[in-house]
Order: sequence, then C-alpha cells, then structure tokens
Amino acid sequence: MKRYYITTPIYYVNSVPHIGTALTTIVADACARFQKRRGRRVYFLTGTDENAPKVHRVAGERGIPTQQFVDEMAAEFERTWQALHIEYDVFIRTTEDRHKRVVTEVFRRLVRQGDIYKGSYQGWYCVSCETFFASSKVGESRTCPDCGKPLEWRDEPCYYFRLSAYELRLKAHLAANPRFIEPEVRRNETLGFIAEGLQDIAVTRTGTDWGVPVPDDPASGVVYVWFDALLNYLTATGWLERDDYTDTWPPDLQLMGKDILPRFHATIWPAMLMALDLPLPERLYGHGWWIVNKQKMSKSLGNVYAPLEVVQSLAAASGCETPYAVDAFRYYMLREMPTDSDAEFSLEGLETRYNGDLANDLGNMLHRTLSMMHRYFGGRVPDGARVDAGLADLFAQQAARVTEAYEAVDFPRGLREAWQIISAVNRYYDEQAPWTLMKQGDTARAGQVLYAGLIAARLLCALVEPAMPQVAREIARQLGIGEPPAWSDATAMDALPAGHTLQEPTPIFPRLQAKAEPKQPPTPTPQPEPPQQGATTMQDAITIDDFKRLQIRIATVTAAEPVPKSTKLLKLTLDVGGETRTIVAGIAEDYTPDQLVGKQIPVLVNLQPALIRGIVSEGMMLAADVDGRAVLLHPDREVPSGSTVR
Ligand code: MSP
Repeated sequence: MKRYYITTPIYYVNSVPHIGTALTTIVADACARFQKRRGRRVYFLTGTDENAPKVHRVAGERGIPTQQFVDEMAAEFERTWQALHIEYDVFIRTTEDRHKRVVTEVFRRLVRQGDIYKGSYQGWYCVSCETFFASSKVGESRTCPDCGKPLEWRDEPCYYFRLSAYELRLKAHLAANPRFIEPEVRRNETLGFIAEGLQDIAVTRTGTDWGVPVPDDPASGVVYVWFDALLNYLTATGWLERDDYTDTWPPDLQLMGKDILPRFHATIWPAMLMALDLPLPERLYGHGWWIVNKQKMSKSLGNVYAPLEVVQSLAAASGCETPYAVDAFRYYMLREMPTDSDAEFSLEGLETRYNGDLANDLGNMLHRTLSMMHRYFGGRVPDGARVDAGLADLFAQQAARVTEAYEAVDFPRGLREAWQIISAVNRYYDEQAPWTLMKQGDTARAGQVLYAGLIAARLLCALVEPAMPQVAREIARQLGIGEPPAWSDATAMDALPAGHTLQEPTPIFPRLQAKAEPKQPPTPTPQPEPPQQGATTMQDAITIDDFKRLQIRIATVTAAEPVPKSTKLLKLTLDVGGETRTIVAGIAEDYTPDQLVGKQIPVLVNLQPALIRGIVSEGMMLAADVDGRAVLLHPDREVPSGSTVR
C-alpha cells in the first residue's frame, strides 16, 4: 500500500525556528498522526533549505564557515521539532549529496529535452525572498513587490526554465482538480497569479559558489535555490535510488504558509513535475500567517516568538509538566490556527485557552469522572454499565465531524467539535447528578452515568492525540488502557469492560494563577468537586472569562421550514461565516419561515448539539422574551455572516 506522504516546506537556516515555522510543522505533525491513528502508513518529511544565498550571507556576517553554520542551524531545527513532539520520518538537508545528485540529474534532463535553455538575465532579485522579478513588476522604488525590501540588479548569463510552456496544462489541472489547492482562498490566489500569464524563469545564478553548481557548465554559477529546494520532496522518496520510490510518490498533502503557495508550490513546482513526467501532488494546503499585535512578525519589531521559550514560560507560570506544556502550546497553535485569513498570536490567548479549554474543560472532566469512579466504585468499571443511546449517537456524530474537519486540515473546527463532547458530558452530569443518585442508593444508574464519562474520555483520548500526543498518553494511562485507542475503535461504546481498573486521577493542567496575583508556587489544579446533594452550581456573578466562553455569532438564515408534527418548532439553516449550521428553534408560533429567510440573528454557536425531533440542533438563537413570546434581535446594519458578538 502506498504511504501517505506529507511534507512541510524546508526552512531557511538563516534564522532559528519561530512560531511561524512551528505552525506549519505542528499542523503537518497533527495531520501525520491523524492518518497514522486511522491506520495508514505515513511518510512525514521536513528539513532545511541550506543552499540559499541569504544563508551564505548570514554565515559570512557572523564569520562562521557556511557549512559549519548550516550544520549548527539544522541541528537547532531538529532539536526544536523533537522538543515539540514532531514525529517526522525524514529530516532532509539540501546540502546532502543525495539531494545534490537529484538536482543535477533533473537539471541535465530538462536541458536535454529543451525545457531548460541558456540565455541571459537582466532584472531584479530579492535576496530576502530569493525571488527574481521582471522590470515590469518593479516600481520606481525598486523594492520587492512581496516583502518591500530593496532589490538587487542582476545582469548575468543564465539558464531559464520554460515555465510558459506549462501554463495551459496547469490551468487545465487546476480546473479538473478543485481540491488540488486548499483552502479556497489560496486556490483563487493561484488562479489569479496564473491568469497574469507565466513567463520563463531564471534557474541559475552567478556570483556565488554556495549551492549546487550548474551541471556541465560551472562557469554559469549555481542552480537557483527554489529550483533546488522544491526537488527535496522528490529526493526524500529515493527517486533515482530505488525503483519502488512510488510507494511514497506522489505527496498526498503538502503544507505551507500562504506566502510560498501560488508562485512556487502551485506553479513552478507542478510545472517542473510535468516536465519530468511525474505525477503531481494530490493536495497543496496553504495556511495563513501569525501576526503579533496586528503586525507581521519581524526581528526589527522584536515580536518574533521562539516556540520553546513560550513553552517554558507557560510551564513556569502554571506548574504544568513540560511535555504537557508543549502539548498545550500545540493545542493553541491548532485551535487558533490561521486557516483562510491571518490570526493573532498572543500569550494572553494561549493562557486563556490553557485555563479554559485544557484546565477547566478537558482536565476537569477527566478528573471529576475518575474521582467519582474511585469514590463510588473503587476505581473499577461496574457491571452492566452502558452509554445512553442519545449520548452514544452524539459521541459518534461528533467523532465523525472531527474526522471530517481534520481531513480538511481545519483543526480549529475539529477541536471545537471534539470539545462539544466535553460540554455534553458536563451537562449530562449536571442533569443526571450521579452524586445524588448515589445518595438515593441508585448505584446502578450512577455507574451508568459515569460510564458515559469514561467512554467520552477514551474517545477524547483518541481525538486529541494528533494535537496533544503526550497528553493523550497520560489520559490513556489514567484510564488504564495503556495506549490511546485507534481511530476506528475510538467510538466503541463498550470498550471498558466491567471490572476494568482505572488509575488514580492526577491533574494534567494546573490552573494558571491570574497575572496580578503575587507569584505562588505551582499548585495542582483545584479541580472542582462534584456538587453535593442539593447544592447548586449557579453563581449570581460570572467573570469575564466565563462570558468569553460563550461564542455568539451573527448568522444569516438561508432556509427555514416547519418541523413535522410540531406546532412550535422551526428548523433553520444558517450561514455562520462560511460554515452551515442547522438549529431547531421554538418560534413557529411567532414567525413564519418566509419571515426569517435572509434575516440576521445572534446565535450561540458553541452550545452542545442536541437531538430535537430527530434533528441535530447545533446552536441556539438568541431572542427577547416578551411574555413568553420570542421577539427576534437583529444587528443595527447588515454585517458579515459569522461576525462575533462581544
Ligand atoms: N525555504 C523556503 C521554503 C522552501 S520549500 C521547498 C522558505 N523557508 S522559510 O524558512 O522562510 O519558511 C517559510 C514557511 O514558514 C512559510 O511557508 C510558513 O510555512 C512559515 N512561516 C514563516 N513565517 C510565518 C508566520 N508569521 N506565520 C505562519 N507561518 C509563517 O520559505
């Protein structure tokens, strides 16, 4: 069976890893782990791009021989990725001989078949982007159209790759394969880029000997770093070395930031493969960028975060063990991942997710379930416990949604869907009150209720593993199951047999103390005790953090219909900013369906889904209550669907 081949870009070694390069790598790792959990053989490639002129330049500035410099920097990347639990199969370096052999061979082949030809280059070059620009694309300022830095003039003999010859085939490929480039916004950017027309590109550079020498013509300098770098994906499969490289080739998923998708990965790269007569990658995915305080990260602004420093500060502030702090960082990267647009990275955001999603939700649900199992059942699964059918359906449905979202590289959505399971269990506990059942002597029912919590924890153990592998291991240990379950088996509702022994609960995510409070030694999470009989969990006042947990968005009603056999209910289809949701609302006595279509209404979107008359309702609309009648609320003017209410 072919391996599922997944790649990250190879990173320039002129600077150390940061939260931008960490993002792509963590997303790729989560995709790789997800595929592995689903039983696929995976081949996950990352590495470093070392032949770039800017790398050579920085080594020179530091007075270090370039080879020594790239060795040290590549080691730094490997060390960082390993510390972030990145489970790559190969770490490729473009200074390796096997890679240089591939570049040389490809260059020779394309010269032989006329796809590379000799000419001369007069134009501009951006060393920072390692990109050539024709004079027509450069304004008076002579700065890079992409990054704004000053351009360098080049007037040199050079070889060209006949990119223009592939324009029509590229267009046809894009048209025939709508999933070739994701998400949609990147596909459109690429279509726009190609529509401007493709010109042949310079693929050699003179004036340096750092790089792969131009084959059979060393006086022409070295091969252009992007032509060289893109081929790493081929080198890593053993192309030229083994006939069975097709057990890996072509890539199933190539991940990168939006900056290097349209021009390089979606145009030059497939054209090179077409010239080589090799199958193209299945899917290219380009994520957005992290921005910090609404600005691009840059050394001069001093807003570049190093991933391991962020992890260390989280561990120190919370008392969380380092492997779990690493996973918390990974969780944040994936939960807030910029998909279509850019997203803000902030330490406050990380801390809010840590306290809210990890300490309060996931950690607390596991702890409270295991604590009650120990208190009431001696830490053993009681006889005859089964998960209620409604809840079992909800677990299966949420697992399917997580699967679909992970497959689409939409980790924010996937994790949101996974967290609905936690809300469902917490609600179920509140409704069923196992502590009261125990007091009333209904041990069997209490066991049944807690068993649902255990099954949910086991399911979550599998669902969070791609994001938080060490946390998943720890959940598995506490559940007494050794390893996180395989994906296909994660929704088994009878997976924990009667008599199965659970371990003592240990808090994984100690709560972060508020910043203003004096620093205290880290304490274990104060996990709320289950309320005692008669006690109520309601508080009069809530904190702003409590409020922030409500995700209220403006939705546009795209369809509305009565729910059969109900006089009160309407089924509404909503556009919540590119996402479609269904909700069931009790407003049929106040509004007719056609009064609703096209209207914008506020909706609580992170409410646990509920099964109402056989329809899964995925949220709740907010309305004024006037003597028991619903009166709709609308924004003051039309706003984009999905706008946040705060
Ligand atoms: N060496 C080339 C890639 C060659 S692949 C054949 C390169 N390297 S890079 O070091 O500049 O890394 C680029 C990648 O880092 C981007 O595609 C993106 O994946 C990631 N990011 C760099 N800064 C980023 C942000 N601020 N935010 C998110 N990701 C960004 O380009």
